[in-house]
Amino acid sequence: ACYKAAELCRALVKEGATVQVVMTEAAAQFVTPVTMQALSNQPVYVSQWDPREPNNMAHINLTRHAHAMLVAPASADFMAKLLHGRADDLLSLMCLARPVDTVPLLLAPAMNKEMWAHPATQRNMAQLRQDGAKVLGVGQGDQACGEVGDGRMLEADELRHSLEAFFAPKVLQGRRVLVNAGPTYEAIDPVRGITNRSSGKMGFAIARAAADAGAMVTLVAGPVALPTPHGVQRIDVISAQHMHAAVLAQAAHADVFVAAAAVADWRVDLAASQKIKKEAGAAPPALRFLENPDILAEVAATARALSGALFCVGFAAESENLLAHAQAKRARKNVPLLVGNIDPDTFGQDDNALLLVDEHGYRELPRASKADLARQLIHDLATRLAPKTP
Ligand code: CTP
Repeated sequence: ACYKAAELCRALVKEGATVQVVMTEAAAQFVTPVTMQALSNQPVYVSQWDPREPNNMAHINLTRHAHAMLVAPASADFMAKLLHGRADDLLSLMCLARPVDTVPLLLAPAMNKEMWAHPATQRNMAQLRQDGAKVLGVGQGDQACGEVGDGRMLEADELRHSLEAFFAPKVLQGRRVLVNAGPTYEAIDPVRGITNRSSGKMGFAIARAAADAGAMVTLVAGPVALPTPHGVQRIDVISAQHMHAAVLAQAAHADVFVAAAAVADWRVDLAASQKIKKEAGAAPPALRFLENPDILAEVAATARALSGALFCVGFAAESENLLAHAQAKRARKNVPLLVGNIDPDTFGQDDNALLLVDEHGYRELPRASKADLARQLIHDLATRLAPKTP
């Protein structure tokens, strides 16, 4: 956990956060304050008697301007101490002295699996939650002690994400969002197939941004090797027909459908059940294609036929005349919002620029990371939804 804390510190600084590191004496046994100072670019505090503070009140001075306090790792002992409001070192003092209304406290537990499962730890965490702390989850797997189980501290990336999610405005609270993402794979025979260059990154970023915004998110993913965003329910599919079935089954429960997947327009008619062999002198196999169902158009039409309560968003990747194609596609698919990829070479990249096309016109979201664009898109979307009926 201590090296994850060092990595987290670095990641947060890289993302533009100001990180003030405070360590317990115990933490300083594992990683030196010098390491954390170098990573955070700030002096590190360990003692409540630190003479660098002119008024000698580090516990007050360090807690008045923070947007959040994160204890990572939070040991079983430290949580037991917090529970009782004890304050015998700088970190516990700060947890107690922080203004609770403006400085939320997040805890990232890390301990052996038996310590984690112990009723005392579970009881303490329940009480800490009641006292207003946000207790993050733990990971599962190999532990430093050699045992295997629950209690590992979350990875640095997961912690950074938890912090970002914690700060994200909950503009989709209570909404159910369905996203499809990635390419589809259309088999020719058991070992060959046709697919496309979609990486799934944009759709996954949208699923994550929607979950961070408070939505319950289901992600129907084509064959991609991306990690599932935290808190998102994922359904893996291969072909357009699989994706069609999975999306239709989920659409009935959704408030929003974002069709970010690059669905193959055609599939191979009569895919061979055995590998097609290359015979000397024989002509190459002739492939015939059948049209795949248009998932977006079908979901949008079904939604209109029912109550119209499902808000559908389409995507378009064009190699020319984006605006004209996007407007035509929006009308053809009969959806209220169509998102165009401004750069057709965006496949697999981490950034992009988008064009939002609706019945009134269009708006550009300038080049930014896909994570950033996804957040902007989710905000835009939230303003378009009819108010939630209680
Ligand atoms: N889409 C879909 N099902 C398909 C094809 C496309 O749901 N069988 C959705 C995509 O997820 C995307 C939108 O429709 O949201 C636009 O996809 P695109 O392939 O660009 O549109 P097409 O209608 O296939 O037009 P074209 O390929 O001619 O550009």
